Amino acid sequence: MKTPIVSFLKSYQEKSPVRMHMPGHKGAGILGFEEMDLTEIHGADELFAAEGIIKESEQNASSLFGCPTYYSTQGSTLCIQTMCTILCQDAKSKGKNPKILAGRNAHRSFIHAAALLDFDIEWLYGNSDYLSCKVSAKDLEKEIIENHPTAVYLTNPDYLGNLLDIKSLASVCKKHNVLLAIDNAHGAYLRFLESSLHPIDLGADLCCDSAHKTLPVLTGGAYLHLSDSLNKEWKSQVKHFMEYFSSTSPSYLIMASLDAANEVLDDTFRKSLFECIRYVDSLKNTLVQHGYTILSGEPMKITISTKDYGYTGNEIADLLMDCDIYPEFYDSDYIVLMPSPYNTKEDFIRLEICLCEIERKKAILTSFPKLECAQKVMNVRQALFAPSMKVDISKSLGQICSSVIVSCPPAILPVIPGEIISESAIEVMKYYGIESVRVVK
Ligand SMILES: Cc1ncc(COP(=O)(O)O)c(C=O)c1O
Repeated sequence: MKTPIVSFLKSYQEKSPVRMHMPGHKGAGILGFEEMDLTEIHGADELFAAEGIIKESEQNASSLFGCPTYYSTQGSTLCIQTMCTILCQDAKSKGKNPKILAGRNAHRSFIHAAALLDFDIEWLYGNSDYLSCKVSAKDLEKEIIENHPTAVYLTNPDYLGNLLDIKSLASVCKKHNVLLAIDNAHGAYLRFLESSLHPIDLGADLCCDSAHKTLPVLTGGAYLHLSDSLNKEWKSQVKHFMEYFSSTSPSYLIMASLDAANEVLDDTFRKSLFECIRYVDSLKNTLVQHGYTILSGEPMKITISTKDYGYTGNEIADLLMDCDIYPEFYDSDYIVLMPSPYNTKEDFIRLEICLCEIERKKAILTSFPKLECAQKVMNVRQALFAPSMKVDISKSLGQICSSVIVSCPPAILPVIPGEIISESAIEVMKYYGIESVRVVK
């Protein structure tokens, strides 16, 4: 597969050009890779009006993913903002007010998109703990019939690696003629499994992947995918919508990285992914035999429910970090490890040795407090842009939350802007060590 962006940047470097254009480092900066960092000069194409090398590269990505695929150099966050814009425009084009039925474990970028675009959200809590949001097709159908949403928005996989039955959920959405958008930030690699588990292949209408999370792509590189069945109108406008939220200076380093990844994905990635899954499976088996509880879910995440082994996730993380092994995420209940085919066999051996050297203790029986459904009194936009003040958690009962509070990377929101802060939300925040919260004045 050709890599037109990388080829252009390399041939530009070889010319020893006089750079009378941005960026200011002129290709000779202090980090050593600035030569490849360019701006949208003649021949370098434009991300949001792609007609040349970027268009060619995005077409390569589209053929790899089997659907129209667009680059983001601002992560899934930009793709989520764009997906929400499409969902809103689609509702308006049908003469309806946008109302999105969303899994409560939505990432904060979705909440910010709701504030920017001012759409209504109905929350789906799922029938499990609030860290995941296990929504069944039956639950979804019931909610669609009761709430008449214009679209459904779900996170799959979630931060702990849980997977939803997207195929069944998508057929419910199709039956009721509502669009299904999936935050697949953690699952770009799912397309390259022996049998694809990528949301678009399973029937979603729109989906975003943070390429940087699971593929060999620089931080910030992401894809927005649209299904073939989505109204052509939105395909023609997608770049225009992306521009609403984006910088006018997309990073060529990130685009070159997405471009170079195409070649790898087309060539060796599948094989190295299978090999890596074998290492991960074997490590998971060893850990289970050793007494650890491992959550089932997507094949590339190792999520340990640590209290069963007698430790908090934070304690296990400290022990790993003492061995210079750095996890993706940890809190009092879990530790999440995110390997990729770019980890070496030695990495897995070091991880196994370190985890198996930790002595098992008596299980810790405390578990996280239950979060009750929240009462909404303002919409997200009103609350987020209202005059606000920071208060100590202990003084927040009954006040209206005005900011996105997250204890940790899984971005699970105990209370959302516009909702009354309840006793159960306070308990959850205390549990995660949140000391203050912004409330509407
Ligand atoms: C579930 C989920 N969605 C979206 C995002 C945002 O992705 P990005 O950092 O690529 O903008 C994240 C980031 O951690 C995430 O975990």
